[in-house]
Amino acid sequence: MKKSNIAIDGPAGAGKSTVAKRLANQLGYIYIDTGAMYRALTLQGLNAKMDLHDQEKLNEYLKQHPIQLTVEDGLQKVYIDGLDVTEEIRSLEVSKNVSLVAAHPLVRKTMLQLQQDLARNGHVVMDGRDIGTHVLPDAGLKIFLNASIKERAKRRYEELIEKGYKGTLEELIDDISLRDKKDQERTVAPLKQADDAILIDTSTLSIQEVVEKILLYLREQIGK
Ligand code: DC
Repeated sequence: MKKSNIAIDGPAGAGKSTVAKRLANQLGYIYIDTGAMYRALTLQGLNAKMDLHDQEKLNEYLKQHPIQLTVEDGLQKVYIDGLDVTEEIRSLEVSKNVSLVAAHPLVRKTMLQLQQDLARNGHVVMDGRDIGTHVLPDAGLKIFLNASIKERAKRRYEELIEKGYKGTLEELIDDISLRDKKDQERTVAPLKQADDAILIDTSTLSIQEVVEKILLYLREQIGK
């Protein structure tokens, strides 16, 4: 694996994807959203009324239906089996079920291979939960983003309200806390800060401030 790769992990709503996207843009790197891959599989499982506890079936589906991450007019797009699912994978239903799908060892094994293949040529910014610990253990820079649960839920709430969300902030706090708990407690590749990752608390920082901090660490790393 390449040293030029950057791994960004952290819990839901810590700002990973926004930061990773901007960072990749500034560096001219490829951005890979691994959460979108788990979400795409979950969506298809729900649409096909699959039993989401059945890891063999989900894994078979994943192997036969390729997921594609592309950038079109500067916007990240997600396709599964040639179908544009960019919007649908952000639904509350997918968010509620994705941790169950992502906990399956067989599914994770296939995803690991797909994600490592995507990073094989280097110059990738990849975000997720297990990138620094499992997917890219020798990434040149590993960042773990975190923020208070209240701040993270508030960010998601503001995003969702724009899309017509009718729930309360408290409900979102409960949903996100439960998802974090499931992601942290699963046996295979749980959400965890890698020993050699740099922790950044984004609670009081703007996106650009986080990006600047990471660029600074990157320069330090290159200078070593
Ligand atoms: O980053 P996100 O919220 O879109 O991720 C959706 C879910 O996918 C998250 O609850 C945990 C799972 N996930 C994972 O287990 N491993 C990853 N590398 C990325 C996401």
